[in-house]
Amino acid sequence: MRMVDIIEKKRDQHALTKDEIEFFINGYTKGDIPDYQISSLMMAIYFNGMSDDEATHLTEAILNSGDTIDLSSIAGTKVDKHSTGGVGDKTTLVLGPLVAACGAKFAKLSGRGLGHTGGTLDKLESIKGFNISLSNEAFINQVNDINIAVAGQTSQLAPADKLLYALRDVTGTVPSIPLIAASIMSKKLASGADVIVLDVKIGEGAFMKTLEDAKALSRIMVKIGENFGKKIIAFITDMSEPLGFAVGNKLEVVEAIQTLQGNGPKDLHKLCLEIGAYLVYHAKLTESLDQAREMIEQKIQNLEASDIFKTMLETQNGTYPDLNDYIHTKGIISVKSESSGYVKKLNALDIGLAAMRLGAGRATKDDTIDPDVGIVLNKKVGDKVEKGEELAYIYNNKDDITEEVKTVLNAFTITTEFQEKKPLIIEIID
Ligand code: URA
Repeated sequence: MRMVDIIEKKRDQHALTKDEIEFFINGYTKGDIPDYQISSLMMAIYFNGMSDDEATHLTEAILNSGDTIDLSSIAGTKVDKHSTGGVGDKTTLVLGPLVAACGAKFAKLSGRGLGHTGGTLDKLESIKGFNISLSNEAFINQVNDINIAVAGQTSQLAPADKLLYALRDVTGTVPSIPLIAASIMSKKLASGADVIVLDVKIGEGAFMKTLEDAKALSRIMVKIGENFGKKIIAFITDMSEPLGFAVGNKLEVVEAIQTLQGNGPKDLHKLCLEIGAYLVYHAKLTESLDQAREMIEQKIQNLEASDIFKTMLETQNGTYPDLNDYIHTKGIISVKSESSGYVKKLNALDIGLAAMRLGAGRATKDDTIDPDVGIVLNKKVGDKVEKGEELAYIYNNKDDITEEVKTVLNAFTITTEFQEKKPLIIEIID
């Protein structure tokens, strides 16, 4: 087989075979095929797309480039969740304990954040002592013992994806729906769960900017999952404004704990309740989605879910935070509204970028994170605001945050007319 023939075939809009896809993934992973040929093929795929079968073969080839985790020694249905990335998205920290308290086995490998979006691992690592590096054996034992473990992905999981993603990032070929689908699904399938919810975010703060693209991505990922005999449910959710109020690592941990105790923001509670209900129901722990919702609400009220979060932190050597003495910054600056009215828009991307520049996120992979800094919103879309009232609080450790204050202020659009909130959950593809 010759790589040039594969490139020409895709350039001329023909479907690639399983063997051809395996050939270029294996060759690239081994270093036998150069970057320039794979770049050219990625661009041909970007323009000409892939069929569901091709995307499934690509997923399988990437999945087989490294280790897979065999969760079969865990009794019960293993559940997992993936978000395409957002601002203030601490869903995993809440959802995991909720479904674990209901009896589902939450076995999750998470990643770090990059750019304006945060990563679950960074949030967990902001907790003193928390260990994200579990051996497969320790990971499996922990899920068997306490129903939940969240650990970091090793470099051996889908290594072809790391190579391809780095190349796509510098060749303008990231926003291709089949390439994104194969990238996400290869990692999810390598992690071994039976039931997986994919939270596909749309809006300013998200990867997918339109509903049409989000639907296309969701549809193909559900199909790929089906081809592997897994139950995949895609949620399309709004990320035009941040989720919850807190953006920044320790701030988000606090908000997650409050949500587990029944005192969290409504949007975060709603999203965790709905995703949780689908996981619990498809894990066959209830007979209906409504029963699953009821069970989850009960686990919040009786604090069982909150206790499981504490147990998970302690099992992974973390110290459960004392919420009265947890976040320490040089200052907390309030950003005040310059006019009265209603919040019409709150740009998630701007809030994410401001938080990143404060030190809560990374502009490049090698940046270090300041776990204490971030932004706590005081107003969200639809809220009434008076001139001079606080829109947000900036927890900061920098000497000069003039730019960040400006960015946060400009993230808000205030109008005199009342603005309805957009629905949080736009569509569920089951
Ligand atoms: N997230 C991934 O894991 N892969 C992509 O290609 C895009 C987003």
